[in-house]
Amino acid sequence: LDDLLGEGVSGRRVFVRADLNVPFDKAAIDPQGHGVISDDGRARAVLPTLIALRDAGARVIVASHLGRPKGAPDPKFTLAPVAKRLGELLGSTVVFADDTVGPAATEAVAALQDGQVLLLENLRFNAGETSKDDAERGAFADQLAAFADFYVDDAFGAVHRKHASVFDVPARLPRYAGGLVLKEVEVLKKVSESPEQPYVVVLGGSKVSDKLAVIQALLPKVDKLLVGGGMCFTFLKAQGHEVGKSLLEAEMISVCADLLEQAQGRIVLPVDVVAAAEFSADAAHDVVSVSEIPADRLGLDIGPESTSLFAEAIAGAKTVFWNGPMGVFELAPFAAGTRGVAEAITKIDGFSVVGGGDSAAAVRTLGLDESAFGHISTGGGASLEYLEGKTLPGVAALEK
Ligand code: 3PG
Repeated sequence: LDDLLGEGVSGRRVFVRADLNVPFDKAAIDPQGHGVISDDGRARAVLPTLIALRDAGARVIVASHLGRPKGAPDPKFTLAPVAKRLGELLGSTVVFADDTVGPAATEAVAALQDGQVLLLENLRFNAGETSKDDAERGAFADQLAAFADFYVDDAFGAVHRKHASVFDVPARLPRYAGGLVLKEVEVLKKVSESPEQPYVVVLGGSKVSDKLAVIQALLPKVDKLLVGGGMCFTFLKAQGHEVGKSLLEAEMISVCADLLEQAQGRIVLPVDVVAAAEFSADAAHDVVSVSEIPADRLGLDIGPESTSLFAEAIAGAKTVFWNGPMGVFELAPFAAGTRGVAEAITKIDGFSVVGGGDSAAAVRTLGLDESAFGHISTGGGASLEYLEGKTLPGVAALEK
């Protein structure tokens, strides 16, 4: 981005791919009938790039996806409330086009003034964005690229997607990495290539299958891999425990058993859990040992003994990578494990990385001090795929 700014962008049209895929409060609706953003961290993360371009007099065209609409307009996934929030954060109006490459967008781009910011409607309202067909994606990319003179990718959260706005538009314009993408890649490169030892990884979230590749990639590098969240129950089952009504991926039990054997004690599992009668904040719940989970209960958080065990392992680390909450932190009775682990991470005498998605949202939702972490990634899937060693299409497109 500094290179682009150095060239001078006043009056030039700059297409910025951002990741404004922010979470919404499921229960709330604003007076305009739109959803209410529950965590605007991703929007804040791209502000430095937008401010630098705006203040340099560029005509800034911002584009993002939101959720997973099916390639056609769907009001549930409109970016309109995000445009409003972005305007508040920028302290200047953000023009919103209610289509992506249609007449509204075309007119809005033509009317853009120097130093103005425009947000296009959700890219995934157009089937070309996510298409597996190169020609279909390319045709959509042609339309997007026609809007701009330069391309800037600051959507780290989406760099693992081979989508038109991430992979094909940069092939059509002079391309630049935004500050966020640069910083994220630099930090993850350091953690994956030369982590200072001891290196402790904390994984949570619901599914083992989503994390299998990263577990396999990390296992040879880590001193300890602490597993909590919904995914720990498949590991516990593989250890021979009954897990009641807890989340279980039956087809992954033998894979987990193999991983436990391969890890030779380096995978650490909870020893107690908070077991609830149902998935609800009001549900009856108790702390039970993992060997005594009642058949009619489901585990919704790791228990206090496990939190201490995990905190102890974290305390000695020089590098910690954390992805995935330890429990259903959005519901107060099941937030203690995530909070305890997060607090332990803030205290290490070393470098910590929070790997995006729900864990980054947890840091903010639980009111933890963001500055106490080394780096909070904006990419959930993207940071995991980076650590798996995969080529990220968005990064490859910039490097080409
Ligand atoms: C994310 O939330 O990880 C990114 O915004 C990518 O979203 P996706 O998984 O729907 O592609």
